[in-house]
Amino acid sequence: MNQSRPASMSSFWMPFTNNRDFKANPRLLVSAEGMYYKDVDGNSVLDGTAGLWCVPCGHAQPKIVSAVREMVGQLDFAPTFQMGHPAAFDLAEQLMEYAGHKFGHVFYTNSGSEAVDTALKMALAYHRARGEGTRTRLIGRERGYHGVGFGGLSVGGIGGNRKSFGPLLPGVDHLPHTHDLDKNAYTRGEPEYGTHLADELERLVTLHDASNIAAVIVEPVAGSTGVLIPPKGYLKRLRELCTKHGILLIFDEVITGFGRLATPFAADYFDVEPDLMTTAKGLTNGVIPMGAVFSKKHIHDAFMEAPAGIELFHGYTYSGHPVACAAAIATLEVFKEQNILAHAQEMQGYWEDAVHSLKGMPYVTDLRTIGLIAGIELESIPGKPGVRAFGAFKKAFADGVLIRTTGDIIALSPPLVLEKKHIDELFGKLATVLTHLD
Ligand SMILES: Cc1ncc(COP(=O)(O)O)c(C=O)c1O
Repeated sequence: MNQSRPASMSSFWMPFTNNRDFKANPRLLVSAEGMYYKDVDGNSVLDGTAGLWCVPCGHAQPKIVSAVREMVGQLDFAPTFQMGHPAAFDLAEQLMEYAGHKFGHVFYTNSGSEAVDTALKMALAYHRARGEGTRTRLIGRERGYHGVGFGGLSVGGIGGNRKSFGPLLPGVDHLPHTHDLDKNAYTRGEPEYGTHLADELERLVTLHDASNIAAVIVEPVAGSTGVLIPPKGYLKRLRELCTKHGILLIFDEVITGFGRLATPFAADYFDVEPDLMTTAKGLTNGVIPMGAVFSKKHIHDAFMEAPAGIELFHGYTYSGHPVACAAAIATLEVFKEQNILAHAQEMQGYWEDAVHSLKGMPYVTDLRTIGLIAGIELESIPGKPGVRAFGAFKKAFADGVLIRTTGDIIALSPPLVLEKKHIDELFGKLATVLTHLD
Protein backbone atom coordinates (compact mmCIF):
# COMPACT_ATOMS: atom_id res chain seq x y z
CA MET A 1 0.00 0.00 0.00
CA ASN A 2 1.06 3.57 -0.69
CA GLN A 3 3.34 4.76 2.12
CA SER A 4 4.22 8.05 0.53
CA ARG A 5 2.38 11.32 -0.04
CA PRO A 6 -0.64 10.86 -2.32
CA ALA A 7 -0.34 12.42 -5.76
CA SER A 8 -3.48 14.46 -5.09
CA MET A 9 -5.57 15.03 -1.99
CA SER A 10 -8.40 16.96 -3.56
CA SER A 11 -11.03 14.24 -4.11
CA PHE A 12 -11.36 12.87 -0.57
CA TRP A 13 -13.96 15.00 1.25
CA MET A 14 -12.73 14.43 4.78
CA PRO A 15 -15.13 13.93 7.71
CA PHE A 16 -15.26 16.37 10.65
CA THR A 17 -12.20 18.11 9.20
CA ASN A 18 -11.20 21.59 8.20
CA ASN A 19 -10.45 20.25 4.70
CA ARG A 20 -8.77 23.39 3.35
CA ASP A 21 -6.51 23.78 6.37
CA PHE A 22 -5.62 20.09 6.43
CA LYS A 23 -4.83 19.84 2.75
CA ALA A 24 -2.60 22.88 2.98
CA ASN A 25 -0.63 21.24 5.76
CA PRO A 26 -1.49 17.54 5.98
CA ARG A 27 -0.81 15.10 8.78
CA LEU A 28 -0.50 11.69 7.16
CA LEU A 29 -0.21 8.40 9.02
CA VAL A 30 1.11 5.40 7.15
CA SER A 31 1.54 2.62 9.69
CA ALA A 32 0.93 1.74 13.32
CA GLU A 33 2.18 -0.70 15.93
CA GLY A 34 1.58 -0.91 19.65
CA MET A 35 1.40 2.60 21.12
CA TYR A 36 2.76 4.41 18.06
CA TYR A 37 1.81 5.60 14.63
CA LYS A 38 4.37 6.36 12.00
CA ASP A 39 3.82 9.38 9.78
CA VAL A 40 4.65 9.73 6.12
CA ASP A 41 8.05 11.25 6.94
CA GLY A 42 8.96 8.28 9.12
CA ASN A 43 8.39 10.06 12.46
CA SER A 44 6.94 8.13 15.41
CA VAL A 45 3.75 9.57 16.86
CA LEU A 46 2.67 8.40 20.31
CA ASP A 47 -1.03 7.65 20.23
CA GLY A 48 -2.64 9.57 23.09
CA THR A 49 -6.15 8.98 21.80
CA ALA A 50 -6.28 5.31 20.77
CA GLY A 51 -6.99 6.56 17.25
CA LEU A 52 -10.48 7.88 17.89
CA TRP A 53 -10.96 6.13 21.27
CA CYS A 54 -11.03 2.82 19.46
CA VAL A 55 -7.79 0.83 19.92
CA PRO A 56 -7.73 -0.47 23.51
CA CYS A 57 -5.36 -3.35 22.78
CA GLY A 58 -2.81 -1.27 20.89
CA HIS A 59 -2.18 -1.12 17.16
CA ALA A 60 -1.49 -4.11 14.92
CA GLN A 61 -2.23 -6.49 17.77
CA PRO A 62 -0.91 -9.76 16.30
CA LYS A 63 -3.79 -12.00 17.40
CA ILE A 64 -6.41 -9.65 15.98
CA VAL A 65 -4.50 -9.11 12.75
CA SER A 66 -4.17 -12.83 12.14
CA ALA A 67 -7.84 -13.51 13.01
CA VAL A 68 -8.87 -10.96 10.41
CA ARG A 69 -6.49 -12.38 7.82
CA GLU A 70 -7.78 -15.89 8.42
CA MET A 71 -11.47 -14.98 8.27
CA VAL A 72 -11.23 -12.86 5.17
CA GLY A 73 -9.72 -15.83 3.36
CA GLN A 74 -12.31 -18.25 4.75
CA LEU A 75 -15.62 -16.33 4.63
CA ASP A 76 -15.33 -12.89 3.10
CA PHE A 77 -19.02 -12.10 3.44
CA ALA A 78 -22.16 -13.85 4.57
CA PRO A 79 -25.62 -12.37 4.97
CA THR A 80 -27.28 -12.36 8.36
CA PHE A 81 -30.80 -11.77 7.02
CA GLN A 82 -32.55 -15.16 7.20
CA MET A 83 -29.04 -16.70 7.12
CA GLY A 84 -26.16 -16.89 9.55
CA HIS A 85 -22.58 -17.90 10.16
CA PRO A 86 -21.06 -19.37 13.33
CA ALA A 87 -18.80 -16.45 14.27
CA ALA A 88 -21.76 -14.08 14.68
CA PHE A 89 -23.38 -16.43 17.20
CA ASP A 90 -20.12 -17.24 18.97
CA LEU A 91 -19.31 -13.56 19.35
CA ALA A 92 -22.76 -12.80 20.77
CA GLU A 93 -22.32 -15.46 23.46
CA GLN A 94 -18.86 -14.16 24.29
CA LEU A 95 -20.12 -10.59 24.52
CA MET A 96 -22.80 -11.68 26.98
CA GLU A 97 -20.08 -13.29 29.08
CA TYR A 98 -17.82 -10.23 28.86
CA ALA A 99 -20.77 -8.11 30.04
CA GLY A 100 -21.25 -10.40 33.06
CA HIS A 101 -24.56 -11.76 31.70
CA LYS A 102 -26.32 -8.53 32.57
CA PHE A 103 -27.81 -8.48 29.07
CA GLY A 104 -29.54 -11.23 27.13
CA HIS A 105 -28.97 -10.30 23.51
CA VAL A 106 -26.89 -8.29 21.11
CA PHE A 107 -27.75 -6.71 17.74
CA TYR A 108 -24.91 -5.89 15.35
CA THR A 109 -24.39 -2.65 13.47
CA ASN A 110 -21.36 -1.15 11.73
CA SER A 111 -20.75 1.98 13.72
CA GLY A 112 -21.67 3.88 16.84
CA SER A 113 -24.12 6.06 14.93
CA GLU A 114 -25.96 3.01 13.67
CA ALA A 115 -25.94 1.47 17.13
CA VAL A 116 -27.58 4.60 18.52
CA ASP A 117 -30.27 4.76 15.85
CA THR A 118 -30.88 1.03 16.34
CA ALA A 119 -31.30 1.45 20.09
CA LEU A 120 -33.71 4.37 19.66
CA LYS A 121 -35.77 2.36 17.18
CA MET A 122 -35.75 -0.65 19.51
CA ALA A 123 -37.03 1.53 22.34
CA LEU A 124 -39.91 2.86 20.25
CA ALA A 125 -40.83 -0.56 18.86
CA TYR A 126 -40.54 -2.17 22.31
CA HIS A 127 -43.16 0.10 23.82
CA ARG A 128 -45.40 -0.36 20.83
CA ALA A 129 -45.05 -4.14 21.01
CA ARG A 130 -46.27 -3.96 24.60
CA GLY A 131 -49.28 -1.84 23.75
CA GLU A 132 -47.71 1.43 24.89
CA GLY A 133 -47.41 3.01 21.47
CA THR A 134 -47.91 6.52 22.88
CA ARG A 135 -44.39 6.36 24.30
CA THR A 136 -42.67 8.09 21.41
CA ARG A 137 -40.70 10.93 22.97
CA LEU A 138 -36.93 10.63 23.27
CA ILE A 139 -34.76 12.47 25.75
CA GLY A 140 -31.07 13.20 25.23
CA ARG A 141 -28.78 15.65 26.96
CA GLU A 142 -27.08 18.92 26.14
CA ARG A 143 -23.49 18.39 25.02
CA GLY A 144 -24.26 14.73 24.31
CA TYR A 145 -22.80 13.11 21.20
CA HIS A 146 -24.59 10.14 19.73
CA GLY A 147 -23.20 10.04 16.23
CA VAL A 148 -24.45 11.56 13.03
CA GLY A 149 -27.56 9.63 12.00
CA PHE A 150 -30.78 11.62 12.24
CA GLY A 151 -31.78 9.81 15.43
CA GLY A 152 -28.44 10.33 17.11
CA LEU A 153 -28.26 13.94 15.95
CA SER A 154 -31.75 14.60 17.30
CA VAL A 155 -30.98 13.34 20.80
CA GLY A 156 -27.45 14.73 20.63
CA GLY A 157 -26.77 18.08 22.19
CA ILE A 158 -24.03 19.72 20.12
CA GLY A 159 -25.33 22.83 18.41
CA GLY A 160 -22.66 22.86 15.71
CA ASN A 161 -23.49 19.32 14.64
CA ARG A 162 -27.23 19.98 14.52
CA LYS A 163 -27.66 23.42 13.09
CA SER A 164 -27.40 22.68 9.36
CA PHE A 165 -29.56 19.59 9.25
CA GLY A 166 -33.01 20.41 10.54
CA PRO A 167 -35.74 19.55 10.91
CA LEU A 168 -34.51 16.77 13.15
CA LEU A 169 -36.78 14.21 14.86
CA PRO A 170 -39.78 15.78 16.53
CA GLY A 171 -40.66 14.99 20.15
CA VAL A 172 -37.15 15.24 21.57
CA ASP A 173 -36.09 16.97 24.78
CA HIS A 174 -32.67 17.46 26.32
CA LEU A 175 -31.61 17.21 29.93
CA PRO A 176 -29.13 19.87 31.02
CA HIS A 177 -25.46 18.94 30.79
CA THR A 178 -23.58 18.46 34.03
CA HIS A 179 -20.41 20.45 33.37
CA ASP A 180 -19.82 23.13 36.01
CA LEU A 181 -16.26 24.32 36.52
CA ASP A 182 -17.26 26.84 39.19
CA LYS A 183 -18.23 23.92 41.38
CA ASN A 184 -16.22 20.99 40.08
CA ALA A 185 -12.82 22.04 38.72
CA TYR A 186 -9.79 19.72 39.05
CA THR A 187 -11.68 16.54 39.87
CA ARG A 188 -10.34 13.04 40.04
CA GLY A 189 -13.21 10.68 39.26
CA GLU A 190 -16.80 11.80 39.74
CA PRO A 191 -17.36 15.39 40.82
CA GLU A 192 -19.36 16.12 43.96
CA TYR A 193 -21.74 18.71 42.59
CA GLY A 194 -24.65 18.18 40.24
CA THR A 195 -26.54 15.00 41.17
CA HIS A 196 -29.75 17.04 41.29
CA LEU A 197 -29.48 17.73 37.55
CA ALA A 198 -30.90 14.23 36.97
CA ASP A 199 -34.12 15.44 38.57
CA GLU A 200 -34.74 17.53 35.47
CA LEU A 201 -36.18 14.30 34.11
CA GLU A 202 -39.05 14.66 36.60
CA ARG A 203 -39.79 18.08 35.13
CA LEU A 204 -40.02 16.59 31.63
CA VAL A 205 -42.24 13.80 32.93
CA THR A 206 -44.54 16.40 34.50
CA LEU A 207 -44.60 18.31 31.24
CA HIS A 208 -45.23 15.43 28.83
CA ASP A 209 -46.47 12.62 31.08
CA ALA A 210 -44.47 9.41 31.34
CA SER A 211 -46.95 7.62 29.08
CA ASN A 212 -45.52 9.64 26.17
CA ILE A 213 -41.82 9.09 26.86
CA ALA A 214 -39.94 6.14 25.36
CA ALA A 215 -36.33 6.51 26.42
CA VAL A 216 -33.55 8.58 27.88
CA ILE A 217 -30.13 8.29 26.25
CA VAL A 218 -26.89 9.54 27.79
CA GLU A 219 -23.20 8.84 27.51
CA PRO A 220 -22.09 7.73 30.98
CA VAL A 221 -19.02 9.94 30.44
CA ALA A 222 -19.53 12.41 27.60
CA GLY A 223 -16.43 12.19 25.42
CA SER A 224 -16.86 14.24 22.30
CA THR A 225 -17.70 17.47 24.08
CA GLY A 226 -14.60 17.26 26.20
CA VAL A 227 -14.75 14.59 28.91
CA LEU A 228 -17.76 15.51 31.02
CA ILE A 229 -17.76 13.19 34.01
CA PRO A 230 -21.12 12.54 35.69
CA PRO A 231 -21.55 13.89 39.21
CA LYS A 232 -21.61 11.35 42.04
CA GLY A 233 -24.95 9.51 42.10
CA TYR A 234 -26.26 11.23 38.95
CA LEU A 235 -26.54 8.10 36.81
CA LYS A 236 -28.07 6.10 39.66
CA ARG A 237 -30.69 8.81 40.05
CA LEU A 238 -31.46 8.74 36.33
CA ARG A 239 -31.87 4.98 36.58
CA GLU A 240 -34.28 5.31 39.50
CA LEU A 241 -36.38 7.88 37.70
CA CYS A 242 -36.50 5.89 34.45
CA THR A 243 -37.56 2.77 36.34
CA LYS A 244 -40.19 4.69 38.29
CA HIS A 245 -41.74 6.02 35.08
CA GLY A 246 -41.33 2.99 32.79
CA ILE A 247 -38.86 4.88 30.59
CA LEU A 248 -36.01 2.92 29.02
CA LEU A 249 -32.50 4.02 29.92
CA ILE A 250 -29.96 3.78 27.11
CA PHE A 251 -26.26 4.16 27.85
CA ASP A 252 -24.23 5.16 24.84
CA GLU A 253 -20.98 3.35 25.60
CA VAL A 254 -19.38 3.83 22.20
CA ILE A 255 -16.31 5.34 23.84
CA THR A 256 -16.64 4.08 27.41
CA GLY A 257 -17.20 0.43 26.50
CA PHE A 258 -14.38 -2.07 26.37
CA GLY A 259 -12.28 -0.94 29.25
CA ARG A 260 -11.97 2.82 29.01
CA LEU A 261 -12.75 3.11 32.74
CA ALA A 262 -10.79 -0.07 33.55
CA THR A 263 -14.09 -1.96 33.87
CA PRO A 264 -15.83 -3.89 31.08
CA PHE A 265 -18.26 -1.00 30.58
CA ALA A 266 -18.91 2.32 32.31
CA ALA A 267 -22.17 0.77 33.52
CA ASP A 268 -20.00 -1.49 35.70
CA TYR A 269 -17.91 1.39 36.95
CA PHE A 270 -20.97 3.37 38.00
CA ASP A 271 -22.89 0.25 39.07
CA VAL A 272 -25.94 1.22 37.04
CA GLU A 273 -27.70 -1.13 34.63
CA PRO A 274 -29.17 0.41 31.48
CA ASP A 275 -31.90 -1.33 29.48
CA LEU A 276 -30.03 -0.89 26.22
CA MET A 277 -26.37 -0.16 25.65
CA THR A 278 -24.73 1.01 22.45
CA THR A 279 -21.13 0.10 21.66
CA ALA A 280 -18.65 0.22 18.75
CA LYS A 281 -15.00 1.28 18.47
CA GLY A 282 -13.10 -0.91 20.98
CA LEU A 283 -15.40 -3.83 20.17
CA THR A 284 -13.07 -4.81 17.32
CA ASN A 285 -10.08 -2.82 18.56
CA GLY A 286 -10.98 -0.43 15.75
CA VAL A 287 -9.66 -2.89 13.18
CA ILE A 288 -12.91 -3.51 11.30
CA PRO A 289 -15.93 -1.22 11.65
CA MET A 290 -18.56 -2.75 13.92
CA GLY A 291 -21.12 -1.62 16.47
CA ALA A 292 -23.42 -3.55 18.76
CA VAL A 293 -26.52 -2.84 20.81
CA PHE A 294 -26.77 -4.84 24.01
CA SER A 295 -30.35 -5.50 25.07
CA LYS A 296 -31.81 -6.66 28.33
CA LYS A 297 -33.60 -9.97 27.92
CA HIS A 298 -37.06 -8.55 28.60
CA ILE A 299 -36.74 -6.04 25.77
CA HIS A 300 -35.81 -8.68 23.24
CA ASP A 301 -38.49 -11.03 24.58
CA ALA A 302 -41.24 -8.48 24.10
CA PHE A 303 -40.61 -8.75 20.35
CA MET A 304 -40.75 -12.54 20.43
CA GLU A 305 -44.38 -12.54 21.47
CA ALA A 306 -45.54 -11.15 18.13
CA PRO A 307 -47.21 -13.53 15.64
CA ALA A 308 -44.67 -15.62 13.70
CA GLY A 309 -42.59 -13.63 11.24
CA ILE A 310 -39.77 -11.12 11.26
CA GLU A 311 -39.80 -9.55 14.73
CA LEU A 312 -37.79 -6.39 14.09
CA PHE A 313 -37.80 -4.77 10.68
CA HIS A 314 -34.32 -3.41 11.02
CA GLY A 315 -30.77 -4.41 10.14
CA TYR A 316 -27.77 -3.60 7.97
CA THR A 317 -26.24 -5.52 5.08
CA TYR A 318 -23.05 -5.76 7.13
CA SER A 319 -24.66 -6.56 10.53
CA GLY A 320 -22.44 -9.28 11.95
CA HIS A 321 -19.94 -9.17 9.09
CA PRO A 322 -17.75 -12.29 9.42
CA VAL A 323 -14.46 -10.38 9.36
CA ALA A 324 -15.70 -7.91 11.98
CA CYS A 325 -16.89 -10.82 14.14
CA ALA A 326 -13.46 -12.44 13.85
CA ALA A 327 -11.81 -9.17 14.91
CA ALA A 328 -14.18 -8.81 17.87
CA ILE A 329 -13.70 -12.41 19.04
CA ALA A 330 -9.93 -11.96 18.89
CA THR A 331 -10.24 -8.65 20.76
CA LEU A 332 -12.14 -10.33 23.59
CA GLU A 333 -9.48 -13.04 23.70
CA VAL A 334 -6.75 -10.41 23.99
CA PHE A 335 -8.69 -8.70 26.79
CA LYS A 336 -8.69 -11.99 28.67
CA GLU A 337 -5.20 -13.26 27.87
CA GLN A 338 -3.46 -9.96 28.50
CA ASN A 339 -5.64 -8.94 31.41
CA ILE A 340 -6.23 -5.60 29.74
CA LEU A 341 -8.68 -4.38 32.38
CA ALA A 342 -6.35 -5.17 35.27
CA HIS A 343 -3.52 -3.42 33.47
CA ALA A 344 -5.69 -0.34 32.88
CA GLN A 345 -6.57 -0.36 36.56
CA GLU A 346 -2.89 -0.51 37.46
CA MET A 347 -2.08 2.46 35.24
CA GLN A 348 -4.96 4.61 36.49
CA GLY A 349 -3.25 6.22 39.47
CA TYR A 350 -0.07 7.06 37.57
CA TRP A 351 -2.18 8.47 34.72
CA GLU A 352 -4.24 10.60 37.08
CA ASP A 353 -1.15 12.03 38.78
CA ALA A 354 0.47 12.81 35.44
CA VAL A 355 -2.62 14.66 34.22
CA HIS A 356 -2.98 16.69 37.40
CA SER A 357 0.72 17.58 37.33
CA LEU A 358 -0.21 20.03 34.55
CA LYS A 359 -2.03 22.23 37.05
CA GLY A 360 -0.78 25.81 36.81
CA MET A 361 0.43 25.52 33.20
CA PRO A 362 -0.46 28.54 31.03
CA TYR A 363 -4.17 28.83 30.15
CA VAL A 364 -5.12 25.57 31.88
CA THR A 365 -8.47 26.11 33.62
CA ASP A 366 -9.31 22.51 34.46
CA LEU A 367 -7.91 19.01 34.57
CA ARG A 368 -10.25 16.07 35.05
CA THR A 369 -9.70 12.34 34.98
CA ILE A 370 -11.57 9.10 35.17
CA GLY A 371 -10.29 5.66 34.17
CA LEU A 372 -7.80 6.17 31.35
CA ILE A 373 -9.41 9.39 30.15
CA ALA A 374 -8.36 12.97 30.71
CA GLY A 375 -9.87 16.33 29.92
CA ILE A 376 -7.62 19.39 29.85
CA GLU A 377 -9.62 22.57 29.52
CA LEU A 378 -7.93 25.72 28.25
CA GLU A 379 -8.93 29.34 28.43
CA SER A 380 -10.12 30.39 24.96
CA ILE A 381 -8.50 33.15 22.97
CA PRO A 382 -11.11 35.93 23.19
CA GLY A 383 -13.42 35.77 20.18
CA LYS A 384 -11.69 32.67 18.81
CA PRO A 385 -13.12 29.59 20.51
CA GLY A 386 -11.25 26.38 19.77
CA VAL A 387 -8.24 28.06 18.16
CA ARG A 388 -5.92 27.71 21.14
CA ALA A 389 -6.56 23.98 21.60
CA PHE A 390 -6.33 23.30 17.88
CA GLY A 391 -2.96 25.02 17.93
CA ALA A 392 -1.95 22.65 20.73
CA PHE A 393 -3.09 19.69 18.63
CA LYS A 394 -0.93 20.77 15.69
CA LYS A 395 2.10 21.49 17.88
CA ALA A 396 1.70 18.17 19.68
CA PHE A 397 1.57 16.26 16.40
CA ALA A 398 4.68 18.02 15.20
CA ASP A 399 6.33 16.99 18.49
CA GLY A 400 5.27 13.36 18.02
CA VAL A 401 2.09 12.92 20.09
CA LEU A 402 -1.47 12.51 18.93
CA ILE A 403 -4.01 14.32 21.09
CA ARG A 404 -7.62 15.24 20.34
CA THR A 405 -9.32 18.56 20.83
CA THR A 406 -12.90 19.69 20.97
CA GLY A 407 -13.51 23.38 21.42
CA ASP A 408 -10.75 24.42 23.80
CA ILE A 409 -10.62 21.09 25.57
CA ILE A 410 -7.92 18.48 25.00
CA ALA A 411 -9.29 14.96 25.40
CA LEU A 412 -6.90 12.08 26.01
CA SER A 413 -7.78 8.39 25.81
CA PRO A 414 -4.70 6.26 25.08
CA PRO A 415 -4.65 2.57 24.22
CA LEU A 416 -5.15 0.66 27.48
CA VAL A 417 -1.89 -1.23 27.00
CA LEU A 418 0.21 1.85 27.67
CA GLU A 419 3.03 1.71 30.18
CA LYS A 420 4.39 4.32 32.59
CA LYS A 421 7.07 5.29 30.09
CA HIS A 422 4.37 6.24 27.56
CA ILE A 423 2.58 8.32 30.18
CA ASP A 424 5.87 10.09 30.91
CA GLU A 425 6.48 10.72 27.21
CA LEU A 426 2.93 11.94 26.58
CA PHE A 427 2.84 14.40 29.46
CA GLY A 428 6.46 15.48 29.01
CA LYS A 429 5.69 16.51 25.43
CA LEU A 430 2.32 17.96 26.34
CA ALA A 431 3.89 20.13 29.03
CA THR A 432 6.24 21.57 26.39
CA VAL A 433 3.32 22.22 24.06
CA LEU A 434 1.33 23.94 26.82
CA THR A 435 4.29 26.11 27.70
CA HIS A 436 4.44 27.48 24.15
CA LEU A 437 0.76 28.01 23.41
CA ASP A 438 -0.55 31.06 21.57
C1 LIG B 1 -20.75 8.35 22.49
C2 LIG B 1 -20.70 8.18 21.01
N1 LIG B 1 -21.77 7.73 20.38
C3 LIG B 1 -21.77 7.53 19.05
C4 LIG B 1 -20.66 7.80 18.30
C5 LIG B 1 -20.68 7.60 16.82
O1 LIG B 1 -19.90 6.55 16.44
P1 LIG B 1 -19.45 6.38 14.90
O2 LIG B 1 -18.54 7.50 14.59
O3 LIG B 1 -18.81 5.02 14.88
O4 LIG B 1 -20.70 6.41 14.09
C6 LIG B 1 -19.50 8.27 18.93
C7 LIG B 1 -18.29 8.56 18.17
O5 LIG B 1 -17.32 9.10 18.65
C8 LIG B 1 -19.53 8.48 20.32
O6 LIG B 1 -18.46 8.97 20.98
